[in-house]
Parts: sequence; C-alpha cells; structure tokens
Amino acid sequence: MEFIYLTEEIRQQIDKYVEKFPVRDQAVIQSLHLIYSKYRDIEDYHMKELSEYLQVPLNVIEGIVSFYDMFRVKRGARHHIRVCKNLPCHIMGCKNLLKMFEKLTGEKANEYSKNGRFYIETVECIGSCSIAPAFMIDDDLYNGLNITEEKLNEILSKYT
Ligand code: FES
Repeated sequence: MEFIYLTEEIRQQIDKYVEKFPVRDQAVIQSLHLIYSKYRDIEDYHMKELSEYLQVPLNVIEGIVSFYDMFRVKRGARHHIRVCKNLPCHIMGCKNLLKMFEKLTGEKANEYSKNGRFYIETVECIGSCSIAPAFMIDDDLYNGLNITEEKLNEILSKYT
C-alpha cells in the first residue's frame, strides 16, 4: 500500500512507538496524536492508513478515536463547533444555542458537514461549566449565555 498521509517522517516516528510498546495496539494512541498534530483532524483515510501500517484492525482504531474527545473528527469541515449539552449547560440554554448554530450554518448537529465549513457536534462536557452554556469553535472557547443570533453570526464570520 502506498501511504499518502502517513509520510515517511510520520512512519519513522511510529516505528519508534512500536519499539517502545510491546503490544502494537498501544502505539495507536501515540500515532493518532502524531497524525492529529500534523493534520489537525483524524479522518477515515488517516485511520485506514494507520490500520494498514500498524496492522491493527480498523475498528480498534475507530473505537479509540471515538472514545477520546481530543481526537476531534471534523467530519469533512474546516471548523469544528462543539456545543456542550450536559446538565449545567442544558439548564443555561444550550438547546437554543444549538438551534441557532444549526440555523446559521445550515448544518445538522452530529451529521457530516454538507457545505464543508462547519461540523457541529454535541458533547458531554468541555470542562467549562462555570461559563455555561459553553461552546467551542476549533480551539476557541465561548460563553453562550444570552447570546443573540446576531452575535453568534458575528463569531461565526471569523471562521471562513
Ligand atoms: S457541563 Fe457544559 S461545559 Fe461542563
């Protein structure tokens, strides 16, 4: 197999992880970190190449990616919106926030991005309960309390 995303440099680093860990599966997380830091995303094609290279079943890799929130799969979009729906954020109005996001972006939460600009994901907690309802766009954290559609649109316009 020809590797497109697992460059020579990445493969060399992965080889070092493999040497370090007795079980190949243990090299998966480290390898995913490496891929994520290069591409800022983990897509299906990254996982397929990693599966092939490490000889670890694809479903094992997919399971790890979906378990760890840090590997934020953007599902075909340039920007990743995360809206917390856990209780504190729920009480403070995350439902309304989510509706506004869907309306303004034309995307449905947790569905593959249609226009390639935003992927909206509902998450359990982003560790910012004190500013509930909290949301993130890529690495930027926001407080959505009493946010208006106009303000939200203004925020979204920064992400092209
Ligand atoms: S509950 Fe929403 S950020 Fe923690």
